[in-house]
Amino acid sequence: MIPIDGLTITRSATLLDALAQMNKGAKGVLLLVDATGRFERTITDGDLRRLLLAGHPLSETISSLQAISSSVVSPDADVAAVLRLLDEKKIDQVPAVDGAGFPVGLWLRREVPSPVLLSTPHLSEFEQEFVAQAFATNWIAPLGPNVDAFERELAALVGVKHAAAVSSGTAAIHLGLRLLGVGPGDVVFCSSFTFAASANPILYQGAEPVFIDSEPESWNMSPAALRRAFRDAEREGRLPRAVIVVSLYGQSADLDEIKAICEHYGTPILEDAAESLGATYKGRQSGTLGTLGVYSFNGNKIITTSGGGMLVSDDANLIEQARFLATQARDPAPHYQHSVMGYNYRMSNILAGVGRGQLRVLPERVDARRAVYERYAEALSDMDGVRFMPEPSWSRSTRWLTVCTVDPSAIGMTRAQLVERLSAERIEARAAWKPMHLQPLFADCRYYAHEPAKSVCDALFENGLCLPSGSNMTYMQQERVIEAFRALTATSRPARLAG
Ligand SMILES: Cc1ncc(COP(=O)(O)O)c(C=O)c1O
Repeated sequence: MIPIDGLTITRSATLLDALAQMNKGAKGVLLLVDATGRFERTITDGDLRRLLLAGHPLSETISSLQAISSSVVSPDADVAAVLRLLDEKKIDQVPAVDGAGFPVGLWLRREVPSPVLLSTPHLSEFEQEFVAQAFATNWIAPLGPNVDAFERELAALVGVKHAAAVSSGTAAIHLGLRLLGVGPGDVVFCSSFTFAASANPILYQGAEPVFIDSEPESWNMSPAALRRAFRDAEREGRLPRAVIVVSLYGQSADLDEIKAICEHYGTPILEDAAESLGATYKGRQSGTLGTLGVYSFNGNKIITTSGGGMLVSDDANLIEQARFLATQARDPAPHYQHSVMGYNYRMSNILAGVGRGQLRVLPERVDARRAVYERYAEALSDMDGVRFMPEPSWSRSTRWLTVCTVDPSAIGMTRAQLVERLSAERIEARAAWKPMHLQPLFADCRYYAHEPAKSVCDALFENGLCLPSGSNMTYMQQERVIEAFRALTATSRPARLAG
């Protein structure tokens, strides 16, 4: 909203005065007020032009302007409500008018702030050349030189021997479970605090998920809960076929401890590093610490191919099998022959070209996301009840998303209310993942909390907030998020905390 100084005018002004004032204000609009200063209607340059065309001389007052009822908004209308009204009425400006009828500001469509989104694709100068090569050579297929090179280049970057590029992270998890022999009736342990894509492939395989809580240090899988789940499973004679360890929001889980437990029981780990490409755990790359690792290149990820995924492993046989299953499991025969069920999961050569370009800027993207986090942390950490996702000494997080928890009693509103209010300011913040054991889909599944009577991820969901974190966010956009966060929570803070 802009100030209205120099934009109000009364009917006693001449047409010439009005034109001169319109010209000086340079907003293309004036606010007509009565003698007491109360708002009457807006005047556009078109209104003044029509008076002139109708033969009114420049020296005449504008009293002949028709009395019309212009749209107005209240002074506390939020950006989203203002935009809705502008769209609905097909207008480009609307004054804010207080309860007594006085104008207090003016909204101009061209000055409405653009939305600040959670995490948008950030392309570099390199993608187009690889994509152009694919077009020039007619490699418009789910195989080709970009696919092979993307696999090699990603494997080299994360320090793993083999990689298979597929159509999504979910497809990579599904293939991974199949390769680990997960089938109907099997049990698979899986982090509860994650996106549904981590767990759905367990159901694709007809297996049963058992969910494991997070630990407060990293917000990822709790070794304590995992240990209890294994003990029970051993006692019941139903050890899991695999453990899906998810590394969330750009941070690795505590893999050494988790690996030691899994190795004790001889259970392989599938590391879901969809959100943590570029992160390290004790200097090793996230996604390379289990038997299999999975990355996602979905549009919101740290690097993207628009949609895509990668399955990685040091085991050549597993990755060869993954490629086989991902291309409809065609037997090596001179005709179409299939002995096992396969999938159409390979990545297209065009998208792999996008991936190759993106891979070149991964380190820069990590630095940029970390810088966004550091800015938020510096500007907001002093606030009561605001805590950022911790980064243990063994972790270097990419801060794919900056996530914090907010204490409703300190900030005066729930996390859900804060998301709504930020959204009204055109700032896209989101709730942290709703844990899988709280999802209706998995209501019948077993769950192991960090401590028997203390679920960590329930609280993370209740109070967890993801802030806009894109590597392409401008300084001003970050500033807007910080200002809105502080302003919204400060005004609604309970009186005893306000000062
Ligand atoms: C933790 C996690 N696992 C798996 C996936 C699935 O990846 P995709 O969207 O590429 O299928 C995602 C993201 O979408 C994710 O955040």
